[in-house]
Amino acid sequence: MKIACLGGGPAGLYFAISMKLRDAAHDITVFERNRPDDTFGWGVVFSDETFDNITANDPVSAEMIRSHFAYWDDIAVHYRGQRIVSGGHGFSGIARKELLMLLQERARALGVDLRFKTEIASVDALAHDYDLVIAADGLNSKARSDFADHFKPAIDTRKNKFVWLGTHQKFDDAFTFIFEETEHGWIWAHAYQFDTDTATFIVECSPATWDKFGFDVMSQEENCRACERIFAKYLGGHRLMSNAAHLRGSAWLNFPRVLCEKWSYRNIALMGDAAATAHFSIGSGTKLAMESAVAMANYLQSETTLDAAFVKYEEARRTEVLRLQSAARNSLEWFEDVERYLHLDPIQFNYSLLTRSQRISHENLRLRDKKWLEGAEAWFQRLAGASDNIVRRPMFAPFRLRDLRLKNRVVVSPMAQYRGVDGCPTDWHLVHYGERAKGGAGLVCIEMTCVSPEGRITPGCTGMYAPEHETSWKRIVDFVHAETDAKICCQLGHSGAKGSTQLGWEEMDAPLKDGNWPLMSASATAWSDRNQRARAMTRSDMERVREQFVSAAKMAQRAGFDMLEIHCAHGYLLSSFITPLTNLRTDEYGGSLENRMRFPLEIFHAVREVWPMEKPISVRISASDWVGEGGIQPPDAVAIARMLKEAGVDICDVSAGQTSIHAHPAYGRMFQTPFSDRIRNETGMATMAVGNIYEPDHINSILMAGRADLVCLARPHLADPYWTLHAAANLGERSETWPLPYLAGRDQLYRLSGNAQTTPSAV
Ligand SMILES: Cc1cc2nc3c(=O)[nH]c(=O)nc-3n(C[C@H](O)[C@H](O)[C@H](O)COP(=O)(O)OP(=O)(O)OC[C@H]3O[C@@H](n4cnc5c(N)ncnc54)[C@H](O)[C@@H]3O)c2cc1C
Ligand SMILES: Cc1cc2nc3c(=O)[nH]c(=O)nc-3n(C[C@H](O)[C@H](O)[C@H](O)COP(=O)(O)O)c2cc1C
Repeated sequence: MKIACLGGGPAGLYFAISMKLRDAAHDITVFERNRPDDTFGWGVVFSDETFDNITANDPVSAEMIRSHFAYWDDIAVHYRGQRIVSGGHGFSGIARKELLMLLQERARALGVDLRFKTEIASVDALAHDYDLVIAADGLNSKARSDFADHFKPAIDTRKNKFVWLGTHQKFDDAFTFIFEETEHGWIWAHAYQFDTDTATFIVECSPATWDKFGFDVMSQEENCRACERIFAKYLGGHRLMSNAAHLRGSAWLNFPRVLCEKWSYRNIALMGDAAATAHFSIGSGTKLAMESAVAMANYLQSETTLDAAFVKYEEARRTEVLRLQSAARNSLEWFEDVERYLHLDPIQFNYSLLTRSQRISHENLRLRDKKWLEGAEAWFQRLAGASDNIVRRPMFAPFRLRDLRLKNRVVVSPMAQYRGVDGCPTDWHLVHYGERAKGGAGLVCIEMTCVSPEGRITPGCTGMYAPEHETSWKRIVDFVHAETDAKICCQLGHSGAKGSTQLGWEEMDAPLKDGNWPLMSASATAWSDRNQRARAMTRSDMERVREQFVSAAKMAQRAGFDMLEIHCAHGYLLSSFITPLTNLRTDEYGGSLENRMRFPLEIFHAVREVWPMEKPISVRISASDWVGEGGIQPPDAVAIARMLKEAGVDICDVSAGQTSIHAHPAYGRMFQTPFSDRIRNETGMATMAVGNIYEPDHINSILMAGRADLVCLARPHLADPYWTLHAAANLGERSETWPLPYLAGRDQLYRLSGNAQTTPSAV
């Protein structure tokens, strides 16, 4: 086959090598506009795993590269006067120029025709002259833009500014992050050694800081001097150097996240940065380029037509690229939002940095550096006020809110059971909540318990509006208190326009087949075309509902609940006031967010008056309507949380959605946790995270990184009431309390789980 590689970067060269290795008869030419040794940039990094893939493809070039590697295992973080080092990260670095020269040498030896100083002006013409064109022409790919209608690139230019510099200062003992506070804001560096006397030194900051420094009007020389002054104490008198002569001005860039919808057209295939980019903070651009080159060479060999090879190439690489881009997005967003975390203790800041891409889990960090992680866990326990000196995972740290003391950070999230009879909880509830309280969670939150009959969602919902409700709940609460050391929280709510619907396992949110009751909401709206239209609440309706909440709170107190949660989420009555999607009022309860929060806050204040001072109150919110503009979005959630905090709410239970049938939630592991993270770290308010959190590792990383104070699990507790005790047993945590009659079962489980990972150790 007659093949042209457009671009002599890692993708073009490594593809040429990989193809020649599979069939030496291929006639391959690489066209590169630059000279062979004329390259921008400094060093690139490879993880150990990437290097294994490359070695399997071509041991010869792998060995050539390996002999030029600088290795390091540690990551060091300079932050607030401390240098925190963790190990086990396993990376290697090489000068980009060296890498390219080695690949050129290998390509030449295999008979590839390398043509430097050759600018390709027409990709179309190239495609006519060759059987196959690999468009590996980098970030600003001409092939991609010439055929943009076919490749359909999406380019997302990110907000932070960065510049790629080099230095002879040694950073040879660790990949180093340096965070510096300046008179113009925070600015940071990512530094790593790539040969015996040179290190990459990428400087990054927010656009606001960049503006204030006036970097835009500096020459590259002035820019280096300015950065030297900022990072002087880490540079040991060494200079910062730029080699970006190909870039105009001070060489600062904004990272463009590129992803093409299609990767091939006619006989042209995109590869490397031309097809997709991954942010430099996860060091995967060269890896993606080289692994894509291997995949394409494999498929060209295994498939009989170009088209078939292209289909396989795109299928295989897209999944991998999306996976990496997702990790890269988490990582770049962490750096974009880093000012949110700059109040954290250095230990927690370091943990947050290390786990920013969500690729490294809590237990994975333990494998990398057990000692460091145990030190961090000990710090967490101390901060949590643990009375003993045992190192445990964060999920087993105590938590205190007012006078409420929780033994651990796991919460059974409120879940409607639809087993109430005329609002009254039954034996089902006694057994259900009793079991979950025995199962080890620190806090059990009961389902939305409604303040009036018409405030129920379904006829099966429980209530707190009749004397027998109080008595029945008291029986359950008494059991929990007598037989377990769990605490129990009562979630109070009113269904609003989402009321009068069928049981959860019938047709959810659909009106009752018969016996519907009239609804009211913030405004005259309906949940869907099928649901009845609620009437807009009048002032006297509001006063009545407020008194119903107060009365329910008094009953909850007499029933002995330890905590209250007011349900202001999921489109129910109080939520319908908060979201502009359903609050169309023109009085002082509609319009601005302050106005829309007025009624929920009135309810809170009235309830707080009658709820004992020593007991906390939580408010559950929907932090996003998932409809984009026009609905609640995360910055609104921060504003809502600020108002709640100011009013005296103790903790914000951060849920999302269920406020509109037009919502498009971005589901995924821990998908709502970023909202909790943002609220907690921007307002300083305690939070509970919830939503698709189902592994101990999730909980531990959320808590340890300071993304929430408590973690709610709903569905996992339906599948396993003993979720927490089972998790503890599997993790080798031995200090959780089991019910006395179950000790023989506990001991057998401990034996079977073989003291699996770790036993607690004293600090
Ligand atoms: C600040 C920064 C730090 C980075 N750090 C790392 C890291 O640590 N590890 C890592 O793996 N990656 C890193 N990268 C990413 C990495 O540099 C790229 O992802 C990688 O080089 C992509 O390889 P490529 O072959 O697709 O493109 P490139 O390396 O950009 O190669 C494309 C080549 O095509 C040539 N070309 C373009 N158009 C034409 C034309 N019309 N005619 C002839 N020639 C043409 C260009 O001159 C260039 O040589 C970093 C990137 C940046 C910006
Ligand atoms: C069967 C069921 C009933 C639920 N009922 C309630 C409820 O009464 N109040 C509430 O705030 N959330 C309710 N939820 C939402 C959960 O509390 C939780 O926010 C959601 O299920 C996401 O958590 P998960 O991924 O751990 O299941 C319910 C969820 C389920 C599965």
